[in-house]
Amino acid sequence: ALLAPTSGGQGAGREGAGQAATLEAGGGGGGGGRGVVTTYCPANNEPIASVRQASLEDYEETVKKAKEAWKVWADIPAPKRGEIVRQIGDALRQKIKVLGSLVSLEMGKIFVEGVGEVQEYVDVCDYAVGLSRMIGGPILPSERPGHALIEQWNPVGLVGIITAFNFPVAVYGWNSAIAMICGNACLWKGAPTTSLISVAVTKIIAKVLEDNRVPGAVCSLVCGGADIGTAMARDERMDLLSFTGSTKVGKQVALMVQERFGRSLLELGGNNAIIVFEDADLNLVIPSALFAAVGTAGQRCTTARRLFLQESIHDEVVAKLAKAYAQVRIGDPWDSDTLYGPLHTKEAVKMFLDAVEQAKQQGGSVVCGGKVINRPGNYVEPTIVTGLPHNAPIVHTETFAPILYVLKFKEEEEVFAWNNEVKQGLSSSIFTKDLGRIFRWLGPKGSDCGIVNVNIPTSGAEIGGAFGGEKHTGGGRESGSDSWKLYMRRSTCTINYSKNLPLAQGIKFQ
Ligand SMILES: *[C@@H]1O[C@H](CO)[C@@H](O)[C@H](O)[C@H]1NC(C)=O
Repeated sequence: ALLAPTSGGQGAGREGAGQAATLEAGGGGGGGGRGVVTTYCPANNEPIASVRQASLEDYEETVKKAKEAWKVWADIPAPKRGEIVRQIGDALRQKIKVLGSLVSLEMGKIFVEGVGEVQEYVDVCDYAVGLSRMIGGPILPSERPGHALIEQWNPVGLVGIITAFNFPVAVYGWNSAIAMICGNACLWKGAPTTSLISVAVTKIIAKVLEDNRVPGAVCSLVCGGADIGTAMARDERMDLLSFTGSTKVGKQVALMVQERFGRSLLELGGNNAIIVFEDADLNLVIPSALFAAVGTAGQRCTTARRLFLQESIHDEVVAKLAKAYAQVRIGDPWDSDTLYGPLHTKEAVKMFLDAVEQAKQQGGSVVCGGKVINRPGNYVEPTIVTGLPHNAPIVHTETFAPILYVLKFKEEEEVFAWNNEVKQGLSSSIFTKDLGRIFRWLGPKGSDCGIVNVNIPTSGAEIGGAFGGEKHTGGGRESGSDSWKLYMRRSTCTINYSKNLPLAQGIKFQ
């Protein structure tokens, strides 16, 4: 259902923001009308909810309401907008466990990771509160007497946010908290398979906005699939379109947005490597590689997919890692004992099997895993493949599943080049104690990724830094550092406060 979260009704001074959500919890098909999507629990493939999807008319109406709501929001001083974002963070804190469980139930990640991504939203709210009092522009020296040159930042207007199934809460949080304090309205489209989470998060935000007598449509939601996504990409009223998803779809989005000279912020695929040199602390390496490759069942964009081991330690690390893999506790994601849950969909299981098959055909040997687990739901074995060449086609392919390709290398120069030879450029890490090597890794001939780590794995970024990557990862940056600039437009302003007529470059025009 379309859920632009102020549905009129009680309370003076509120805007009706279109229809309320049609949500039939408990499955059962419901409604029977157009575009009802049933979401399933990945741990057993039982239906959870049926959520009516927005039509293009619903979309149209929502965009209009969001644009109207922006007029109110943009007039509120930034620190006051920050105060409202602080309240959103608090409302999320109060519901962190139930929301985390819902993520577990509908997305399939383990409970602590579900809570963890709500925590990231809470953290970025805190960050945004501070930022709401700090956004500034420089005052630059003018070459003309009696003139001031200042930089002013204004909100872009309406920010479209399209998120993926794998982080159904955190990615919306990174975008919306920053976009909001900058003075933008937001229009969110989550993944259809995590519709219930999008509805729950939007309802929490709506209550905070309405309690502050701000139109709920400042944070609007449209549930829908590719038709709505395409409408957003083509829509000139979408002043910024933030898209998280595959490189393939991201490229289509980028072209549609560029075609209208719009702005996009892209967070696309990754093919992240961990490089382990022989001087590394192996006690650090094994748990790090395990967490980065197996965490979230290999469905993070920052999941480690390639593990480069220096020749002399290759066999030892593979043996230790295989042993660690065998001890991973597999189970229901909401069970506190579980470390490893299901893949999100049945299609993902097929992609996993297909990738394992291709890896074998291209010369790899499966050291552990490789099969579907015989239990209800979309469970596959966490998998290690060795023996492939660094440039095998499957090694250069991002498969959203827990498959780790372990590769052997001889020396630094070759392995830095191999890190960079894939199309994607999201995350990367080395394990070493060599100070010179660490700085070469960070420098111009080191990693070409947006995230460059040392002695920690590829996944688990903090909200305070800018998150994103280069090349086919799309070049966008979200969350911390100066990512806020992408949600604003810059004006260079020259103000003449003088009483006489010196033109620039000393031109006389009389
Ligand atoms: C600045 O304003 C003064 C006073 O109105 C005017 O004489 C002068 O031409 C202006 N300077 C420029 C560069 O236009």
